Amino acid sequence: MMFCDFYTFVLALLGLIVLLNFLYNNLWGFLQLTHSILAPYFIVNEENTTLAKKYGSWALITGSTDGIGKAYAIELAKRGINVILVSRSKEKLENTAKEIECQYSVKTKIIAADFSLGEKAIDIIKKEIGGTEIGILVNNVGKQYDYPMYLEEVPEQDLWDIININIGAVTMMCRTFVKDMKKRGKGAIVNVSSASELQPLPLMTVYAATKAYIKSFTASLRYEYGEHGLTIQHLGPFFVNTKMNKFSDRFQKNSFMVPNPDMYARYAVSILGRQDKSTGYWTHGIQSFLTEIAPEWIRMHIGGQMNKHLRNEYLSEQKKKIS
Ligand SMILES: NC(=O)c1ccc[n+]([C@@H]2O[C@H](COP(=O)([O-])OP(=O)(O)OC[C@H]3O[C@@H](n4cnc5c(N)ncnc54)[C@H](OP(=O)(O)O)[C@@H]3O)[C@@H](O)[C@H]2O)c1
Repeated sequence: MMFCDFYTFVLALLGLIVLLNFLYNNLWGFLQLTHSILAPYFIVNEENTTLAKKYGSWALITGSTDGIGKAYAIELAKRGINVILVSRSKEKLENTAKEIECQYSVKTKIIAADFSLGEKAIDIIKKEIGGTEIGILVNNVGKQYDYPMYLEEVPEQDLWDIININIGAVTMMCRTFVKDMKKRGKGAIVNVSSASELQPLPLMTVYAATKAYIKSFTASLRYEYGEHGLTIQHLGPFFVNTKMNKFSDRFQKNSFMVPNPDMYARYAVSILGRQDKSTGYWTHGIQSFLTEIAPEWIRMHIGGQMNKHLRNEYLSEQKKKIS
Protein backbone atom coordinates (compact mmCIF):
# COMPACT_ATOMS: atom_id res chain seq x y z
CA MET A 1 0.00 0.00 0.00
CA MET A 2 2.83 2.33 1.03
CA PHE A 3 4.59 1.42 -2.26
CA CYS A 4 1.48 2.38 -4.26
CA ASP A 5 1.14 5.71 -2.42
CA PHE A 6 4.74 6.52 -3.20
CA TYR A 7 4.21 6.02 -6.94
CA THR A 8 0.95 7.98 -6.88
CA PHE A 9 2.84 10.80 -5.17
CA VAL A 10 5.65 10.74 -7.79
CA LEU A 11 3.13 10.71 -10.65
CA ALA A 12 1.16 13.58 -9.08
CA LEU A 13 4.39 15.54 -8.63
CA LEU A 14 5.38 14.94 -12.26
CA GLY A 15 1.90 16.02 -13.39
CA LEU A 16 2.21 19.19 -11.30
CA ILE A 17 5.63 20.00 -12.82
CA VAL A 18 4.27 19.51 -16.35
CA LEU A 19 1.23 21.66 -15.56
CA LEU A 20 3.36 24.43 -14.03
CA ASN A 21 5.69 24.34 -17.02
CA PHE A 22 2.72 24.59 -19.40
CA LEU A 23 1.20 27.47 -17.42
CA TYR A 24 4.54 29.27 -17.30
CA ASN A 25 5.05 28.90 -21.07
CA ASN A 26 1.50 29.92 -21.90
CA LEU A 27 0.75 32.45 -19.17
CA TRP A 28 1.69 35.39 -21.38
CA GLY A 29 -0.53 34.04 -24.14
CA PHE A 30 -3.33 33.53 -21.64
CA LEU A 31 -3.02 37.09 -20.30
CA GLN A 32 -2.97 38.42 -23.86
CA LEU A 33 -6.05 36.37 -24.68
CA THR A 34 -7.90 37.71 -21.63
CA HIS A 35 -6.90 41.26 -22.48
CA SER A 36 -7.88 40.79 -26.11
CA ILE A 37 -11.35 39.62 -25.19
CA LEU A 38 -11.97 42.20 -22.50
CA ALA A 39 -10.35 45.22 -24.15
CA PRO A 40 -13.30 46.18 -26.40
CA TYR A 41 -15.49 46.51 -23.29
CA PHE A 42 -13.05 48.60 -21.28
CA ILE A 43 -11.31 50.75 -23.84
CA VAL A 44 -13.28 53.97 -23.91
CA ASN A 45 -12.72 56.96 -26.15
CA GLU A 46 -10.11 58.54 -23.95
CA GLU A 47 -7.40 57.81 -26.54
CA ASN A 48 -9.07 60.26 -28.92
CA THR A 49 -7.13 63.00 -27.21
CA THR A 50 -4.30 61.16 -25.52
CA LEU A 51 -2.45 59.64 -28.48
CA ALA A 52 -1.36 63.04 -29.83
CA LYS A 53 -0.44 64.25 -26.34
CA LYS A 54 1.42 61.08 -25.52
CA TYR A 55 3.40 60.69 -28.74
CA GLY A 56 3.15 63.85 -30.87
CA SER A 57 0.88 65.21 -33.57
CA TRP A 58 2.32 63.51 -36.69
CA ALA A 59 2.34 59.83 -37.65
CA LEU A 60 4.07 58.20 -40.62
CA ILE A 61 2.49 55.02 -41.95
CA THR A 62 4.19 52.90 -44.61
CA GLY A 63 2.08 51.02 -47.15
CA SER A 64 -0.87 53.29 -46.37
CA THR A 65 -2.96 53.41 -49.55
CA ASP A 66 -4.56 49.99 -49.12
CA GLY A 67 -5.40 47.31 -46.57
CA ILE A 68 -4.26 47.55 -42.97
CA GLY A 69 -1.99 50.59 -43.51
CA LYS A 70 -4.75 52.74 -45.00
CA ALA A 71 -7.23 51.71 -42.31
CA TYR A 72 -4.62 52.39 -39.60
CA ALA A 73 -3.95 55.88 -41.03
CA ILE A 74 -7.69 56.61 -41.00
CA GLU A 75 -8.00 55.45 -37.37
CA LEU A 76 -5.16 57.78 -36.36
CA ALA A 77 -6.74 60.66 -38.30
CA LYS A 78 -10.01 60.02 -36.43
CA ARG A 79 -8.01 60.70 -33.26
CA GLY A 80 -6.73 64.03 -34.57
CA ILE A 81 -3.28 62.82 -35.65
CA ASN A 82 -1.81 64.32 -38.84
CA VAL A 83 -0.67 61.58 -41.18
CA ILE A 84 2.19 61.10 -43.61
CA LEU A 85 1.28 58.42 -46.14
CA VAL A 86 4.03 56.45 -47.85
CA SER A 87 3.65 53.98 -50.70
CA ARG A 88 4.56 53.64 -54.36
CA SER A 89 1.67 55.04 -56.38
CA LYS A 90 1.37 58.85 -56.34
CA GLU A 91 -2.20 58.69 -57.60
CA LYS A 92 -3.32 56.30 -54.83
CA LEU A 93 -1.52 58.47 -52.28
CA GLU A 94 -3.28 61.63 -53.49
CA ASN A 95 -6.68 59.91 -53.41
CA THR A 96 -6.13 58.52 -49.91
CA ALA A 97 -4.90 61.89 -48.61
CA LYS A 98 -7.96 63.61 -50.12
CA GLU A 99 -10.28 61.00 -48.58
CA ILE A 100 -8.75 61.54 -45.13
CA GLU A 101 -8.70 65.36 -45.29
CA CYS A 102 -12.35 65.45 -46.43
CA GLN A 103 -13.47 63.37 -43.45
CA TYR A 104 -11.21 64.51 -40.61
CA SER A 105 -9.71 67.83 -39.63
CA VAL A 106 -6.10 66.77 -39.89
CA LYS A 107 -3.21 67.60 -42.18
CA THR A 108 -1.73 65.02 -44.55
CA LYS A 109 1.52 64.68 -46.49
CA ILE A 110 2.32 62.11 -49.11
CA ILE A 111 5.61 60.50 -50.04
CA ALA A 112 5.98 58.21 -53.05
CA ALA A 113 8.75 55.74 -52.30
CA ASP A 114 9.35 52.12 -53.25
CA PHE A 115 10.84 50.18 -50.33
CA SER A 116 12.08 47.44 -52.62
CA LEU A 117 14.75 49.95 -53.69
CA GLY A 118 16.28 49.89 -50.20
CA GLU A 119 18.49 52.88 -49.37
CA LYS A 120 16.96 55.03 -52.15
CA ALA A 121 13.51 54.87 -50.52
CA ILE A 122 14.90 55.83 -47.12
CA ASP A 123 16.78 58.79 -48.64
CA ILE A 124 13.60 60.06 -50.32
CA ILE A 125 11.70 59.81 -47.04
CA LYS A 126 14.40 61.62 -45.05
CA LYS A 127 14.44 64.43 -47.62
CA GLU A 128 10.66 64.79 -47.80
CA ILE A 129 10.13 64.70 -44.04
CA GLY A 130 12.43 67.66 -43.44
CA GLY A 131 11.99 68.86 -39.88
CA THR A 132 8.59 67.27 -39.20
CA GLU A 133 8.65 65.48 -35.85
CA ILE A 134 7.34 61.94 -36.23
CA GLY A 135 5.52 60.92 -33.07
CA ILE A 136 4.16 57.59 -34.32
CA LEU A 137 5.96 55.45 -36.89
CA VAL A 138 3.92 52.56 -38.28
CA ASN A 139 6.07 50.10 -40.22
CA ASN A 140 3.22 48.38 -41.98
CA VAL A 141 4.45 47.79 -45.53
CA GLY A 142 5.02 44.13 -46.33
CA LYS A 143 5.32 41.78 -49.29
CA GLN A 144 4.12 38.20 -49.45
CA TYR A 145 4.39 35.44 -52.12
CA ASP A 146 1.76 35.63 -54.87
CA TYR A 147 0.58 32.19 -53.70
CA PRO A 148 2.18 29.36 -51.64
CA MET A 149 5.30 28.22 -53.50
CA TYR A 150 8.44 26.14 -53.13
CA LEU A 151 11.59 28.25 -52.82
CA GLU A 152 12.87 27.42 -56.32
CA GLU A 153 9.60 28.70 -57.84
CA VAL A 154 9.59 32.13 -56.23
CA PRO A 155 11.01 34.65 -58.73
CA GLU A 156 14.44 35.85 -57.60
CA GLN A 157 13.38 39.49 -57.76
CA ASP A 158 10.39 38.75 -55.50
CA LEU A 159 12.73 37.26 -52.91
CA TRP A 160 14.98 40.33 -52.95
CA ASP A 161 11.88 42.53 -52.65
CA ILE A 162 10.48 40.52 -49.73
CA ILE A 163 13.79 40.81 -47.89
CA ASN A 164 14.24 44.52 -48.66
CA ILE A 165 10.65 45.45 -47.82
CA ASN A 166 9.90 43.20 -44.84
CA ILE A 167 13.31 43.42 -43.18
CA GLY A 168 15.32 46.29 -44.72
CA ALA A 169 12.60 48.94 -44.68
CA VAL A 170 11.47 48.23 -41.11
CA THR A 171 15.03 48.22 -39.78
CA MET A 172 16.13 51.40 -41.53
CA MET A 173 12.89 53.31 -40.83
CA CYS A 174 13.36 52.56 -37.12
CA ARG A 175 17.02 53.61 -37.37
CA THR A 176 15.95 56.87 -39.05
CA PHE A 177 13.35 57.99 -36.51
CA VAL A 178 14.22 56.42 -33.18
CA LYS A 179 17.04 58.85 -32.37
CA ASP A 180 14.77 61.92 -32.41
CA MET A 181 12.09 60.07 -30.46
CA LYS A 182 14.67 59.20 -27.83
CA LYS A 183 15.81 62.85 -27.66
CA ARG A 184 12.20 63.96 -27.11
CA GLY A 185 11.63 61.17 -24.61
CA LYS A 186 8.41 60.18 -26.37
CA GLY A 187 7.21 58.38 -29.47
CA ALA A 188 5.76 55.11 -30.67
CA ILE A 189 6.98 52.60 -33.22
CA VAL A 190 4.51 49.97 -34.42
CA ASN A 191 6.04 47.09 -36.38
CA VAL A 192 3.50 45.01 -38.26
CA SER A 193 4.66 41.42 -38.43
CA SER A 194 2.41 38.39 -39.00
CA ALA A 195 1.26 35.26 -37.20
CA SER A 196 3.49 33.42 -39.67
CA GLU A 197 6.31 34.39 -37.27
CA LEU A 198 5.02 31.83 -34.75
CA GLN A 199 6.77 28.89 -36.41
CA PRO A 200 8.54 28.11 -39.69
CA LEU A 201 5.95 28.10 -42.47
CA PRO A 202 6.74 25.87 -45.48
CA LEU A 203 5.69 27.22 -48.89
CA MET A 204 5.77 30.72 -47.43
CA THR A 205 9.25 30.07 -46.11
CA VAL A 206 10.93 33.40 -46.76
CA TYR A 207 7.91 35.54 -45.85
CA ALA A 208 7.56 33.78 -42.48
CA ALA A 209 11.29 34.02 -41.82
CA THR A 210 11.26 37.79 -42.44
CA LYS A 211 8.40 38.12 -39.96
CA ALA A 212 10.33 36.08 -37.37
CA TYR A 213 13.07 38.71 -37.82
CA ILE A 214 10.53 41.46 -37.05
CA LYS A 215 9.47 39.66 -33.89
CA SER A 216 13.04 39.38 -32.60
CA PHE A 217 14.05 42.87 -33.81
CA THR A 218 11.07 44.57 -32.17
CA ALA A 219 11.52 42.83 -28.82
CA SER A 220 15.19 43.87 -28.67
CA LEU A 221 14.38 47.40 -29.81
CA ARG A 222 11.85 47.69 -26.97
CA TYR A 223 14.55 46.62 -24.55
CA GLU A 224 16.93 49.26 -25.94
CA TYR A 225 14.47 52.17 -26.10
CA GLY A 226 11.63 51.35 -23.70
CA GLU A 227 13.61 52.86 -20.84
CA HIS A 228 13.74 56.16 -22.76
CA GLY A 229 9.96 56.45 -22.67
CA LEU A 230 9.25 55.03 -26.15
CA THR A 231 6.46 52.60 -26.98
CA ILE A 232 7.76 49.86 -29.27
CA GLN A 233 4.82 47.72 -30.29
CA HIS A 234 4.76 44.47 -32.18
CA LEU A 235 1.60 43.38 -34.05
CA GLY A 236 1.30 39.84 -35.41
CA PRO A 237 -2.05 39.52 -37.24
CA PHE A 238 -3.54 36.30 -38.56
CA PHE A 239 -5.54 36.63 -41.82
CA VAL A 240 -7.10 40.01 -42.61
CA ASN A 241 -9.26 40.49 -45.69
CA THR A 242 -6.89 42.49 -47.91
CA LYS A 243 -5.53 42.12 -51.43
CA MET A 244 -2.40 40.50 -50.03
CA ASN A 245 -4.42 37.26 -49.77
CA LYS A 246 -6.02 37.49 -53.19
CA PHE A 247 -4.65 34.04 -54.06
CA SER A 248 -7.47 32.52 -51.98
CA ASP A 249 -11.20 33.33 -52.02
CA ARG A 250 -11.44 32.06 -48.42
CA PHE A 251 -9.59 35.13 -47.13
CA GLN A 252 -11.42 37.58 -49.33
CA LYS A 253 -14.58 37.28 -47.22
CA ASN A 254 -15.02 38.90 -43.82
CA SER A 255 -15.65 36.46 -40.99
CA PHE A 256 -15.25 36.07 -37.25
CA MET A 257 -11.60 35.10 -37.75
CA VAL A 258 -10.89 37.18 -40.87
CA PRO A 259 -11.76 40.81 -40.18
CA ASN A 260 -11.72 43.51 -42.80
CA PRO A 261 -8.86 46.02 -42.44
CA ASP A 262 -11.13 48.67 -40.87
CA MET A 263 -12.20 46.32 -38.07
CA TYR A 264 -8.62 45.20 -37.59
CA ALA A 265 -7.22 48.74 -37.43
CA ARG A 266 -9.96 49.97 -35.06
CA TYR A 267 -8.88 47.36 -32.56
CA ALA A 268 -5.13 47.65 -33.24
CA VAL A 269 -5.07 51.43 -32.74
CA SER A 270 -7.15 51.14 -29.58
CA ILE A 271 -4.39 49.07 -27.96
CA LEU A 272 -1.52 51.36 -28.97
CA GLY A 273 0.32 52.25 -25.78
CA ARG A 274 -1.58 49.57 -23.84
CA GLN A 275 -0.11 46.35 -25.17
CA ASP A 276 3.49 46.03 -26.38
CA LYS A 277 2.91 42.75 -28.12
CA SER A 278 -0.37 41.64 -29.66
CA THR A 279 -1.97 40.06 -32.67
CA GLY A 280 -3.84 43.37 -32.96
CA TYR A 281 -7.31 41.83 -33.09
CA TRP A 282 -9.26 40.02 -30.44
CA THR A 283 -10.28 36.88 -32.36
CA HIS A 284 -6.67 36.62 -33.53
CA GLY A 285 -5.70 36.64 -29.84
CA ILE A 286 -7.80 33.49 -29.39
CA GLN A 287 -6.21 31.91 -32.48
CA SER A 288 -2.74 32.76 -31.23
CA PHE A 289 -3.39 31.27 -27.79
CA LEU A 290 -4.74 28.03 -29.25
CA THR A 291 -1.98 27.83 -31.87
CA GLU A 292 0.84 28.18 -29.36
CA ILE A 293 -0.38 25.32 -27.20
CA ALA A 294 0.82 22.80 -29.82
CA PRO A 295 4.56 22.06 -30.15
CA GLU A 296 6.34 23.97 -32.92
CA TRP A 297 6.88 20.92 -35.18
CA ILE A 298 3.14 20.15 -35.18
CA ARG A 299 2.29 23.77 -36.00
CA MET A 300 4.83 23.79 -38.83
CA HIS A 301 3.38 20.57 -40.23
CA ILE A 302 -0.20 21.92 -40.07
CA GLY A 303 0.95 25.21 -41.67
CA GLY A 304 2.77 23.32 -44.43
CA GLN A 305 -0.29 21.15 -45.14
CA MET A 306 -2.57 24.22 -45.15
CA ASN A 307 -0.29 25.93 -47.66
CA LYS A 308 -0.14 22.83 -49.90
CA HIS A 309 -3.93 22.82 -49.90
CA LEU A 310 -4.15 26.57 -50.67
CA ARG A 311 -1.56 26.13 -53.43
CA ASN A 312 -3.50 23.27 -55.05
CA GLU A 313 -6.73 25.27 -54.88
CA TYR A 314 -5.03 28.28 -56.44
CA LEU A 315 -3.36 26.29 -59.23
CA SER A 316 -6.55 24.44 -60.17
CA GLU A 317 -8.45 27.77 -60.27
CA GLN A 318 -5.77 29.12 -62.61
CA LYS A 319 -6.08 26.01 -64.82
CA LYS A 320 -9.86 26.46 -65.01
CA LYS A 321 -9.41 30.10 -66.06
CA ILE A 322 -7.04 29.14 -68.86
CA SER A 323 -9.18 26.26 -70.22
N1 LIG B 1 -3.52 40.77 -44.90
C1 LIG B 1 -3.19 39.80 -44.06
O1 LIG B 1 -3.85 38.75 -43.94
C2 LIG B 1 -1.96 39.96 -43.20
C3 LIG B 1 -1.72 38.99 -42.23
C4 LIG B 1 -0.60 39.10 -41.43
C5 LIG B 1 0.26 40.17 -41.60
N2 LIG B 1 0.01 41.10 -42.57
C6 LIG B 1 0.97 42.20 -42.70
O2 LIG B 1 0.27 43.43 -42.67
C7 LIG B 1 0.95 44.40 -43.45
C8 LIG B 1 -0.03 45.07 -44.40
O3 LIG B 1 -0.56 44.07 -45.25
P1 LIG B 1 -1.88 44.31 -46.13
O4 LIG B 1 -2.51 42.98 -46.28
O5 LIG B 1 -2.66 45.45 -45.58
O6 LIG B 1 -1.21 44.74 -47.54
P2 LIG B 1 -1.90 45.28 -48.88
O7 LIG B 1 -3.38 45.33 -48.75
O8 LIG B 1 -1.31 44.47 -49.96
O9 LIG B 1 -1.37 46.80 -48.97
C9 LIG B 1 -0.03 47.04 -49.19
C10 LIG B 1 0.25 48.53 -49.13
O10 LIG B 1 1.66 48.71 -49.24
C11 LIG B 1 1.97 49.49 -50.40
N3 LIG B 1 3.18 48.90 -50.98
C12 LIG B 1 3.30 47.68 -51.54
N4 LIG B 1 4.56 47.48 -51.95
C13 LIG B 1 5.25 48.60 -51.64
C14 LIG B 1 6.59 49.01 -51.82
N5 LIG B 1 7.48 48.22 -52.44
N6 LIG B 1 6.98 50.22 -51.38
C15 LIG B 1 6.08 51.04 -50.78
N7 LIG B 1 4.79 50.70 -50.58
C16 LIG B 1 4.38 49.51 -51.01
C17 LIG B 1 0.73 49.38 -51.30
O11 LIG B 1 0.54 50.52 -52.10
P3 LIG B 1 1.21 50.67 -53.58
O12 LIG B 1 0.88 49.40 -54.30
O13 LIG B 1 0.61 51.89 -54.17
O14 LIG B 1 2.66 50.84 -53.33
C18 LIG B 1 -0.38 49.32 -50.25
O15 LIG B 1 -0.68 50.61 -49.79
C19 LIG B 1 2.10 43.65 -44.13
O16 LIG B 1 3.29 43.85 -43.42
C20 LIG B 1 1.68 42.20 -44.04
O17 LIG B 1 2.79 41.32 -44.05
C21 LIG B 1 -1.08 41.01 -43.37
